[in-house]
Amino acid sequence: MAIVSSGSAAPLGRRGRDASGAGVADPEDQQGRAGGASQRLVDAEAAPDEAAEVQPREDSLRPKRLADYIGQSELKQVLGIAVEATRARGEALDHVLLYGPPGLGKTTMALVLAEELGVRCRITSAPALERPRDIVGLLVNLQPGELLFIDEIHRLNRVAEEILYPAMEDFRLDLTVGKGTTARTRSLPVAPFTLVGATTRAGSLSSPLRDRFGLIQRLEFYDLPDLQAIVERAAGLLQLDLEREAALEVARRCRGTPRIANRLLRRVRDVAAVQGHGRIGAELVHQALSLHRVDARGLDASDRRLLTLLLEGYGGGPVGLETLAAGLGEDPTTLETVVEPYLLQLGFLQRTPRGRMVTPAGRAHLGWPAQLGLPGAAA
Ligand SMILES: Nc1ncnc2c1ncn2[C@@H]1O[C@H](COP(=O)(O)OP(=O)(O)OP(=O)(O)O)[C@@H](O)[C@H]1O
Ligand SMILES: [Mg+2]
Repeated sequence: MAIVSSGSAAPLGRRGRDASGAGVADPEDQQGRAGGASQRLVDAEAAPDEAAEVQPREDSLRPKRLADYIGQSELKQVLGIAVEATRARGEALDHVLLYGPPGLGKTTMALVLAEELGVRCRITSAPALERPRDIVGLLVNLQPGELLFIDEIHRLNRVAEEILYPAMEDFRLDLTVGKGTTARTRSLPVAPFTLVGATTRAGSLSSPLRDRFGLIQRLEFYDLPDLQAIVERAAGLLQLDLEREAALEVARRCRGTPRIANRLLRRVRDVAAVQGHGRIGAELVHQALSLHRVDARGLDASDRRLLTLLLEGYGGGPVGLETLAAGLGEDPTTLETVVEPYLLQLGFLQRTPRGRMVTPAGRAHLGWPAQLGLPGAAA
């Protein structure tokens, strides 16, 4: 088990906003990101207490095996078959690309794959691979069958991508040695390895890179029963006495996202501890999350600010993304990748060619009267 880190932490980027509205940056959130310039090695075979030494909070709630990974049945089925076949053949698993919104379990799945295959997983993120020698260094040090996890792989620069192509395809590095007329190309073998790439924006990946992944899987938002199971599992690990109804309340408010479920559960735990409650019921969840301004559908202060600006400032829209972002003082990418997906999923917001609009359901949720003349509007 070793940690290799270099340089300073990169800005949190899309992590800049605390999606729970709790105003607390959870270390779990910054996983792999604070490491804009850090590389982490995780030994999948390490003893649990050894793993806890590295990232105690973050790793404590992560499922370690495929059987503990809740939901995402299609993903588990596809990868489960691939892992079994790979183990039987004694080869390296085909390269895997995992994409989907933040906090749904991409990094967790990479670690689960390593655990299932009984190999090490080396974790890095694309912004840490700025110079060619960063990626070359990682590749030449890989042992046969090992996993190389590259987070935010859509941010990989051109040079690093070109180095990866032959490495992924033929387990070979093509390096240029020397300059000008004395320049020569040298080929170096790389151990057969598995690249696991994760991204929230699969569309931003270049197609040659995307095409080199044998398994391309999308992670979906979790449904209520799965989220409830995730909350109950986490409550068990945190040794909380949580009623079933209370778990369901947390599940309803976590935006379909396990990371947010875990974070909300921790906020509930804080309030329970301060108020001296042993057993946590739905009422306490309601009280604790209201304190953090998370409402019954999981909307937080940022979501309400966006909808309110649209309603108060622009009569419900349509408004362009840039204008909205400027009005809210948010970065357009954060707005698009972190705030909007859940509002779109709930059907509170609509993206139209002319801009963003609040839907009748969105208006109703914020207690605004229905708009006259629109479908479903009251006469
Ligand atoms: N299927 C699952 N079952 C139980 N817990 C899960 C599951 N998926 C994710 N989690 C929990 O959610 C947390 C966040 O997951 P993870 O870090 O893997 O998300 P991610 O998709 O890599 O996010 P990002 O895009 O921000 O890197 C994990 O620490 C884990 O505790
Ligand atoms: Mg991740």
